Amino acid sequence: MGLFQGLSLLLGLLLNLVFHCNGGTTSVFVRNVEKAIDMPLDSDVFAVPSGYNAPQQVHITQGDLVGKAVIVSWVTEDEPGSNTVRYWRESSKRKKLAKGKIVTYRFFNYTSGFIHHATIRNLEYDTKYYYEVGLENTTRKFWFTTPPEIGPDVPYTFGLIGDLGQSYDSNMTLSHYELNARKGQTVLFVGDLSYADNYPNHDNVRWDTWGRFAERSVAYQPWIWTVGNHEIDFAPEIGETKPFKPFSHRYRTPYKASQSTSPFWYSIKRASAHIIVLASYSAYGKYTPQYKWLEQELPKVNRTETPWLIVLMHSPWYNSYNYHYMEGETMRVMYEPWFVKYKVDVVYAGHVHAYERSERVSNVAYNIVNGICTPIKDESAPVYITIGDGGNLEGLATNMTEPQPAYSAFREASFGHAIFDIKNRTHAHYSWHRNQDGENVEGDSLWFFNRFWHPFDDSSAHVSH
Ligand SMILES: [Fe+2]
Repeated sequence: MGLFQGLSLLLGLLLNLVFHCNGGTTSVFVRNVEKAIDMPLDSDVFAVPSGYNAPQQVHITQGDLVGKAVIVSWVTEDEPGSNTVRYWRESSKRKKLAKGKIVTYRFFNYTSGFIHHATIRNLEYDTKYYYEVGLENTTRKFWFTTPPEIGPDVPYTFGLIGDLGQSYDSNMTLSHYELNARKGQTVLFVGDLSYADNYPNHDNVRWDTWGRFAERSVAYQPWIWTVGNHEIDFAPEIGETKPFKPFSHRYRTPYKASQSTSPFWYSIKRASAHIIVLASYSAYGKYTPQYKWLEQELPKVNRTETPWLIVLMHSPWYNSYNYHYMEGETMRVMYEPWFVKYKVDVVYAGHVHAYERSERVSNVAYNIVNGICTPIKDESAPVYITIGDGGNLEGLATNMTEPQPAYSAFREASFGHAIFDIKNRTHAHYSWHRNQDGENVEGDSLWFFNRFWHPFDDSSAHVSH
């Protein structure tokens, strides 16, 4: 080796060291640590629809594996009322009927209204449907559009919202999402809905207000539900020992369609995406139902049919804030080798009330005695995105691990939402939108190259300051 080559090697090693010691960008936007404030009960966004027993808290989610069914849910307060959904194609006058079930529950001193769930099946792809619930003069009408038939190059746009709550900031996040010109067609919600459990006795009235608040979006496009810690509602001090009780009664998921045995972990296919929802607060160790399900689910993903493999969970694996630091670590240890093996494109999580995007990294070599425990760049690994910045009453996470770890590409403590805009089998445009800017301003963005069809480096992030 000549002197020049030796120097080059040394320089290369030094550059490498510099790279590994420095993380990505910590945004220059610095927010005051202020608690977000919940909107009062008499806010217009919580208004009860007029009329006796009028349906309220209307929401829809995907009702099958492939997007040809929709679960419609709503609440009536005075009496059970009709449990039938009437629906029809935009181009047709003939109304069809779908009948559902009614459930109620008690939580300490709270008694729920009559919660209706009805599944509409055998819908046509890529079609606008109207639907109505309620009776006579309190009938309420909504609409949704079914996704196109599943296929590798079908464009589709997902919104990403997490940890939403019902503060003034939550309202701003939802409005920004609704006004975003990229037009999200389905929301991938990464957990923590109402934050009712922050109220005395988990005041479930705040589950009702959240249902009325979110209706303006979720009655018209499906939200795909992930459960967070605020859905656990475990309160033995008031005799409430059954986890997930309010959430389970109010929100449904199509888990049986993907052979899951629990509503908290399941998968759906939609357009060109295969979406796997995992449960951070259900057992995930070896031999558990969730582990066994995921072990069977991943080999089923057909990337020639659905090239985009997206995973949703609540507690992030790669998080460099000093909030919930390492809470996702045990699940990471269990499942990360699979995510690398099956080339998951992106993992969305919430929980930390801020925004962060990782490099493509993995950390799967550690075996207790070998000491190899640093995340490394890995083109087969997903990008990890924390999008728990919906704006709930607990306020922003502003305190970060310093220096920024090498796995962290971009982080900023602002409320906002994101859009994952799939163009075809190889490309998807991702953008994050902070609430302080106009809804179309991209605070962070990245072109995703599909890991299966285009397994090379993503374009470097374009960051706006
Ligand atoms: Fe959380």
